[in-house]
Amino acid sequence: MVQIAPSILAADFLHLEKDVETVNAYADIFHLDIMDGTFVPNISFGFPVVEAIARKAEKPLDVHLMIVHPEKYVERFAQAGAAMISFHYEAAREQTAAILEQIRSLGVKAGLVINPDCPVQEIFPYLGQVDFVLLMSVFAGFGGQKFIPESLERIRAVRAQLDLLGHPEVPIEVDGGIGPANAAAVVAAGASILVAGSSVFKAPSPAEAIARMRG
Ligand code: DX5
Ligand code: ZN
Repeated sequence: MVQIAPSILAADFLHLEKDVETVNAYADIFHLDIMDGTFVPNISFGFPVVEAIARKAEKPLDVHLMIVHPEKYVERFAQAGAAMISFHYEAAREQTAAILEQIRSLGVKAGLVINPDCPVQEIFPYLGQVDFVLLMSVFAGFGGQKFIPESLERIRAVRAQLDLLGHPEVPIEVDGGIGPANAAAVVAAGASILVAGSSVFKAPSPAEAIARMRG
């Protein structure tokens, strides 16, 4: 089953309630991008916004941390209502296993993220410890970028390794530049959670855009 996770980064922050209702009605997961201006050269939003969305959300909150020292903040995002929390391997390195364990101990699904320039093999040692893998199909930091076509090969490689290790149930989430035009290719490569910001919230009909991505 394909799940669509609209990225709130592309929502209308002056009318956030309307966009939260769109996700509740037509999508599966709230994708929330947390940027610190240090790990990525952009700053998005923090706890008050996540807590406000949590009060209205009827679908799980998926918090994508693009921050240094993710271990300092996972507990607060869990308290704020996150059902899934992912952090970047590039920000964690030798602390990766400990942070995955920390997230799981909070009763939250733990995800590991890599940017397009990180060899997928670097996260293979952790695939037995993740609840999902998040592959960036653009460089983390900004919405509205173009999908990098080489991402398809990376999805296939991680899918093959998860299956080889006996984890066919672990989903691959893909984030960046996804819309109705490339959703089918991303799913065919082995992904099952599609993050989509601009292609949902900037569309004339977000409901139709989501329906088309489901195939
Ligand atoms: C990029 C974020 C994405 C972004 C996706 O750093 O992680 O979630 O919001 O936006 P689109 O779908 O517009 O590429
Ligand atoms: Zn994201």
